[in-house]
Amino acid sequence: MRLSTALLLLCAPPAAAFGPSAPRAAAVRAAAPSTSLGGTMAADYGIPCEDECAVDKYPRLPASVRPGVVTGQALLDLLGHAKDNGYAIPAVNCVSSSSINACLEAARQADAPIIIQFSSGGSQFYAGKGLDNSNLSAAIAGAISGAFHTRTLAEQYGVPVILHTDHCAKKLLPWIDGLLDASERFHAAHGEPLFSSHMIDLSEEPLEENLDICAAYLERMDQVGILLEMELGITGGEEDGVDNTDTPLEDLYSKPEEIHAVYERLTPISTSYTVAAAFGNVHGVYSPGNVRLEPDILDRAQTYISDQLGADAPADRKPVSFVFHGGSGSDVADIRRAIGYGTVKMNIDTDTQWSYWEGIKKFEAQYHDYLQTQIGNPEGAERPNKKYYDPRESMRAAEVNTIARLQQSFEDLNCVGICGLGEKEPAANVFGPRQGGLNV
Ligand code: 13P
Repeated sequence: MRLSTALLLLCAPPAAAFGPSAPRAAAVRAAAPSTSLGGTMAADYGIPCEDECAVDKYPRLPASVRPGVVTGQALLDLLGHAKDNGYAIPAVNCVSSSSINACLEAARQADAPIIIQFSSGGSQFYAGKGLDNSNLSAAIAGAISGAFHTRTLAEQYGVPVILHTDHCAKKLLPWIDGLLDASERFHAAHGEPLFSSHMIDLSEEPLEENLDICAAYLERMDQVGILLEMELGITGGEEDGVDNTDTPLEDLYSKPEEIHAVYERLTPISTSYTVAAAFGNVHGVYSPGNVRLEPDILDRAQTYISDQLGADAPADRKPVSFVFHGGSGSDVADIRRAIGYGTVKMNIDTDTQWSYWEGIKKFEAQYHDYLQTQIGNPEGAERPNKKYYDPRESMRAAEVNTIARLQQSFEDLNCVGICGLGEKEPAANVFGPRQGGLNV
């Protein structure tokens, strides 16, 4: 079962989700590219870009959304499309090139967009745990490295990817500062930011301070077309070394007035932001009965803000777009209700941690007798076991199991067949059993 979820709300302008806010419209249009620059890595580095990599327009998505990392107006178009069409996009915490590739493969299988995100700890791990991180330099370098990996391969898989970073508490702000520096340089060279969006989580600070700091970051991010995800109310449980297991129950549920305060404060700067509002969300997976999600909180917030907006409220009376934190173990009925109330993104980490590990566990169980020594297995005392302990085999087993778990998420989130490419042709010329690999 699940526990978790802090909700991120993507605040939309009164008239249309994710459109430019009135006072800043010109600046937003000037700063954000009108389309994502799918194909940039392939074009810049001469990487072959054929078949789905070269898709110019997805049959079922706004024309601005193309294969590769989606930023700026294309990102707003994609999230608006999700909201208008009643689906949410899975956001998966990744810690290695292997977990990123599993996400890309899963997204192509689901024929859908995906969100790849790095936590600060995941970013550091991507760089390598042997690297000094005392000034967050490893976390900065690791996230940038993961971003380039994602950018290079998202195009090749032919999927639209939102490249995001997860929870950033106050003490981790230098991490985001470093990533924004990188995005600004990337923007100067390519006309779009390196990352699509960043989350700033000041939910443990007083609301005013949370809003002040988020407003300042939104100003900066908006200049280069990066979307801000901010958190309101606390996600319970434990993740990435942050332990919120003792959080008082009332802090796990945001109030409509607080969400309205975010809307009022950030919308005049830009509509390109999300709010993680808590509706009982908890990181992790727990026994039944331990987590009580209340997606109705989202509905109440939409109604409250729409009432405040009066005639300016959008026709669907969902001025805010939500993100669902703590997706692992969540009940599909809660997920679907949250989507109905304007959720466009759901985070999943614990369940994909498990699926990755479980893939290795099953692999070990299947080939146990071939994995105990370099030489010698049930087929003979002198038989080599190289093809079994080659790390690619167990890692591939982890990826395959994770891809299967992610298919469930895509289905739970109504996020299947969104791009309109149809089924993918089986991969050709892949190292497999005939070349000595295992059939995992
Ligand atoms: P779960 O680990 O519960 O899936 O939560 C993930 C999450 O919300 C990351 O921010």
